[in-house]
Amino acid sequence: MQRVEQEIARLIKEIDYDEVTRLFNTLSGGKRLRAKLILKIAPFHEKAPLLAAIVELIHGASLLHDDVIDEASLRRGVASVNATDGSKTAVMLGDVLYSKAFTELLEFDKEIAKIVASSVTALSKGEMLDVKMAATFNTDEKKYLDMLYLKTATLIEAAAISAALLVGKNAHKYGIYGRNLGLSFQIIDDILDITADEKTLGKPSMNDFTEGKCTLAYIYLYHVLDAADKERLRNAHAKTLSQSEALWIKQKMDTYKSIEKSFELAQKLSKEAMKAVEEDKELVLILETMIQRSY
Ligand code: FPP
Ligand code: MG
Repeated sequence: MQRVEQEIARLIKEIDYDEVTRLFNTLSGGKRLRAKLILKIAPFHEKAPLLAAIVELIHGASLLHDDVIDEASLRRGVASVNATDGSKTAVMLGDVLYSKAFTELLEFDKEIAKIVASSVTALSKGEMLDVKMAATFNTDEKKYLDMLYLKTATLIEAAAISAALLVGKNAHKYGIYGRNLGLSFQIIDDILDITADEKTLGKPSMNDFTEGKCTLAYIYLYHVLDAADKERLRNAHAKTLSQSEALWIKQKMDTYKSIEKSFELAQKLSKEAMKAVEEDKELVLILETMIQRSY
């Protein structure tokens, strides 16, 4: 991982603009899940740290843009760039980061470059869908999961496939792993948005629903409520929740085991991911650690 950080720092330096370096240094690196995944799949390849750095720059750029789109003031527990330096700067910094990442993709075979580049189109489509869906009260589970795949899983899937291609491993199997890990990861993230406190999250609890996002637990809950309660949930959507409404939703989720149901799906997807790469113990470990983040 140290090599990855070095590669990231080198790429930022190559951009050759102090303002970019300054802004980039204010960002928190986050979990570096995608980079870790690449290193675990292609541990001894000399270009693995560069591939990991590229994917992390893309991910970082997408979060800069996402915070502008979501009007979020916190990212990974610290003030977002749009909050400190304005949305224009956040968008431009994102542009610099992902275009630099794309340039660096030229260091790789076409197949690898294509997988990574096209995943960015997919994640941009996912973001568009997410925004569109948040404007209404979506209760369609499949629609939600299709959006999650595009928005979160495609870049993780691309990280896994590209790392496998780099070392001649079975790209299909690693793709299944990355896709299911990505979905499971996002479902757990959605659960934590409801169950964790503000301090842990680095943003207000139940913020997704306030942003209009009906994540799985809300979808599952909606379908088991009676007509009056359905209406009450619908009325709470996309607004700042009062303490009593937040408590009511949490109690109903408790009664109807909506969180457990979401967690079961995350576990099922994790198992499918593990099955695809059974022989790779390190990858199984990544999944287990991720699942344990919950609760
Ligand atoms: C976070 O979702 C957002 C994403 C995973 C993808 C965002 C993608 C774009 C903005 C497309 C543009 C891409 C580039 C490379 C410039 P979230 O809002 O559900 O999660 P959060 O709680 O972490 O904000
Ligand atoms: Mg967001």
